[in-house]
Amino acid sequence: MKFIKVDTYEKLSRSAANIIAAQVIAKPHAVLGLATGSTPIGAYTRLAEMCDAGDVDFSLTSTVNLDEYVGLSPANDQSYRYFMDKNLFSKININKDATSVPNGCAEDLDAECERYDALIADKGGIDLQLLGIGIDGHIGFNEPDEVFEKGTHVVTLDPSTIEANARFFASRDEVPRKAITMGMQAIMQAKKVLLIANGKNKEAILHAALFGPITPKVPASILQLHPDLTVIYSEV
Ligand code: GLP
Repeated sequence: MKFIKVDTYEKLSRSAANIIAAQVIAKPHAVLGLATGSTPIGAYTRLAEMCDAGDVDFSLTSTVNLDEYVGLSPANDQSYRYFMDKNLFSKININKDATSVPNGCAEDLDAECERYDALIADKGGIDLQLLGIGIDGHIGFNEPDEVFEKGTHVVTLDPSTIEANARFFASRDEVPRKAITMGMQAIMQAKKVLLIANGKNKEAILHAALFGPITPKVPASILQLHPDLTVIYSEV
């Protein structure tokens, strides 16, 4: 594991964007696994600036996002599809048809999970997977559990996740209780993984995930087994 500690969110964002841009420059047809949450916003802004400046070209790149809330349509401003369009896809020269987010409004959610895994497999897997980490150690929406779930699946969100994500909604009651998330197989089969975390409140869980026992009770701990993991952490 490569662990990079920086002292500002700005530096974290720049380093993360540099790693993502390097991937796309080295392999224009790269498949990027992307994440939502507040942590990657700075990196996405920086990637948009790099694209604007002509330093990186996303025209051949495709993306698969980690997760989506069940029941939120792309038009809902709290959906992860809306988030990705707003914070990244509308600001870079990517082909929108080459961007994928699980469909949280699918009538048959199990079929949607199967479709999503098949889509990732069809693309030949993920070249670089970007991850944030939840306060309970979740990655994507893989919540603490008795087992590591392999494929894309539907999850019931933990009360702590609902609490943490309530800040984005008008009230706690509006936070969806379920989500679709990519499972551990697609994440662990990504050729490279980049985990970013910022804030003192992430320090303890990050430490547990990276240096504690590998257990599905701390989902991110499985990343200790990944052969090419980079972690960037900033305290503020
Ligand atoms: C959400 C997302 C995760 C993200 C996590 C952390 O629940 N599903 O992919 O990593 O929260 O979010 P934040 O970056 O806002 O702390």
